[in-house]
Amino acid sequence: MNQVTECIDTRVSVRNYKDEKIPEDVIRELLRLGFRGPNAMNKQALAFAVVEDREKAKEFSDRAKALRIEGEKLKSEPDEKLIETLLNDDFNIFFNSPVQIFIFSSPEGVKPIEDGSVAAENITLAAHSMGYGTCFIGFAQGLGRDKKFRSDLNVPGDYTYLMAMTLGVPAEKTPVTPRKDLEILSWLK
Ligand SMILES: Cc1cc2nc3c(=O)[nH]c(=O)nc-3n(C[C@H](O)[C@H](O)[C@H](O)COP(=O)(O)O)c2cc1C
Repeated sequence: MNQVTECIDTRVSVRNYKDEKIPEDVIRELLRLGFRGPNAMNKQALAFAVVEDREKAKEFSDRAKALRIEGEKLKSEPDEKLIETLLNDDFNIFFNSPVQIFIFSSPEGVKPIEDGSVAAENITLAAHSMGYGTCFIGFAQGLGRDKKFRSDLNVPGDYTYLMAMTLGVPAEKTPVTPRKDLEILSWLK
């Protein structure tokens, strides 16, 4: 074990945060480390938006939930349990975290999803190493096509929404989620 492997092994998704502001220099350092990751053809096409405004975060959560419900209802077999969860006004998709980070790609990006995933994981691990918690928020996906969300965050029309993540001080210790056995399909020697 070294510090990096221990960081990877002890990281968990955090869904309960202390009501504690994160220093701006910490957020900036995490974004820098996210951007420091490998990226396709070194286009360095990622862009970030940070939301600390709790009312805005709640508004974005409500909008994302409504969009997800709309999408779910269009399915031939909607997930009624999911719809019920999303209809619960107390459920904030960002878990009332003090910071939300949104990752976008400019049109320069040649592998935007991969670039964004690398950055998000770099941020996740760096945050964990500093004692902060994060969670990827796939539920926010619909916001990528939401005009109000994009204009509120100054996102240029040709930028692609990639992902959202929460950031904050964990309110409790979350046990590590076990993983299944590795599936190694082949190992040609
Ligand atoms: C692309 C992606 C989207 C995710 N979306 C959500 C989400 O919307 N809400 C949530 O609570 N967790 C979300 N997660 C976190 C996963 O649920 C979590 O990583 C998984 O359960 C394993 O737990 P661990 O991260 O604690 O090891 C997401 C993770 C990924 C990679």
